[in-house]
Amino acid sequence: MSSTIKGIDTAQPNKPSQQNKSLAVLIPGLGAVGTTLIAGVLAVRKGLGRSIGSLTQHAAIDDADDAPRVCDALPIASLDNLVFGGWDIFEEDCYQAAREANVLTESDLEPIREELAAIKPMSAVFDPDFVRNIDGPNVKRAPTKMELAEQLMEDIEGFQKRHQCQRAVAVWCGSTEVHVKMQPVHMDLESFEEGLRNNHPAISPTMIYAYAHLKSGVPFINGAPNAALDCPALIELAEREGVCVAGKDFKTGQTLLKTVLAPGLAARYLGMSGWYSTNILGNRDGAVLDDPGSFKTKEQSKLSVLHSSLDASRHPELYGDLTHKVRIDYYPPRGDNKEGWDNIDIFGWMDYPMQIKINFLCRDSILAAPVALDLALLADLAQQQGESGVMDWLSFYFKSPQVADGEEPIHDLFRQRDILFSKLRSWYDAPEQSEAVPQMAAGAE
Ligand SMILES: NC(=O)c1ccc[n+]([C@@H]2O[C@H](COP(=O)([O-])OP(=O)(O)OC[C@H]3O[C@@H](n4cnc5c(N)ncnc54)[C@H](O)[C@@H]3O)[C@@H](O)[C@H]2O)c1
Repeated sequence: MSSTIKGIDTAQPNKPSQQNKSLAVLIPGLGAVGTTLIAGVLAVRKGLGRSIGSLTQHAAIDDADDAPRVCDALPIASLDNLVFGGWDIFEEDCYQAAREANVLTESDLEPIREELAAIKPMSAVFDPDFVRNIDGPNVKRAPTKMELAEQLMEDIEGFQKRHQCQRAVAVWCGSTEVHVKMQPVHMDLESFEEGLRNNHPAISPTMIYAYAHLKSGVPFINGAPNAALDCPALIELAEREGVCVAGKDFKTGQTLLKTVLAPGLAARYLGMSGWYSTNILGNRDGAVLDDPGSFKTKEQSKLSVLHSSLDASRHPELYGDLTHKVRIDYYPPRGDNKEGWDNIDIFGWMDYPMQIKINFLCRDSILAAPVALDLALLADLAQQQGESGVMDWLSFYFKSPQVADGEEPIHDLFRQRDILFSKLRSWYDAPEQSEAVPQMAAGAE
């Protein structure tokens, strides 16, 4: 008789049982990141590309010489079984949107053109008060925000039915919204639902998407710095419905390097008096961030990372007087190929000053796509494992990690990685261990 250890069919050792069922990956915002993620997965399936940067597809589950990859060790959906859909304010299908985003070349897009073109964005919930520098025609209309949420719920259910997906997960890849201050309407579910019915002006589109997904039992990941999952009301809903959430703001170029370098310098107890970061980027994300309201949301997210990596409260003599500045300039000629410069002022023995300069010529969406993929796969895995609420163990992937109430976020990439792996290993039973833990198997059924 076959039994199950945390989703693994023991009749077929190490064959995770969820791998052969379709998973809907729903993406609000089919722009540069969304289409690069989809195109990449389609290319990998055809053997035309490699999933570089994805921990789930490349990392081993532990240090053993013969340790399987995370995606083989755990019941993680196979890339072959992902079905992509989403929403955007523009009507272009994903092939056209990917051409427009100009991240991948025509020669990479042509072999997957048909599949990309078949993915047409559903009409979006959009409010120009929250994203000011763009506008588009593919937008839902309804008298109240609650009715817009209900339309999204119909979209989610309809998509899953049409594509015969047993499960779904959502990754917000939409634009950065203006900074939203938490108000009483965000504080509990009753007030929030009242606000949806009364069109409260402080309820943003991202919050409406998050509400609709959580009500539909679909995990929601926030890849932008938007305030959606900061609402205690939505966390209350996630916990009540038993659904996983995580955010916010994919950690990719400059911030990724910051959370690698800062802990390294701190490990040698070198002091730091300043970190100045500036970027140029010319994609649609850059155009949105050119609005001061959206930039403020992004700036707060980017500024948050140094304090905890440097442990300034324990070492005020080294980090107590640190100036940290972040600038982003919209510069159309660069498109998605962002360039970042960092100047780091450090000091050493006898307080002698030194400088470090970094010039990172990165590709924003090439760095973000594997992060979005891992988050979709791991959120689905967590949901299968019975998790719910805020998944702080996914901090590894975020600039501004969300944590449970009262907890302090961790930004140091290496500590974040340890936390992520300890969670993944808690779900992993190596073949030699599985005989020794029959009681776990029974408990997990
Ligand atoms: N690329 C990165 O490295 C990176 C890193 C961290 C965070 N992000 C964030 O990810 C998000 C996406 O980035 P991108 O480069 O793909 O931007 P993009 O502008 O190319 O794509 C965003 C898409 O969202 C759409 N959109 C806006 N509001 C919407 C709504 N309410 N509903 C549905 N669609 C909506 C836009 O029309 C656009 O097509 C941005 O918020 C960005 O700040 C990106």
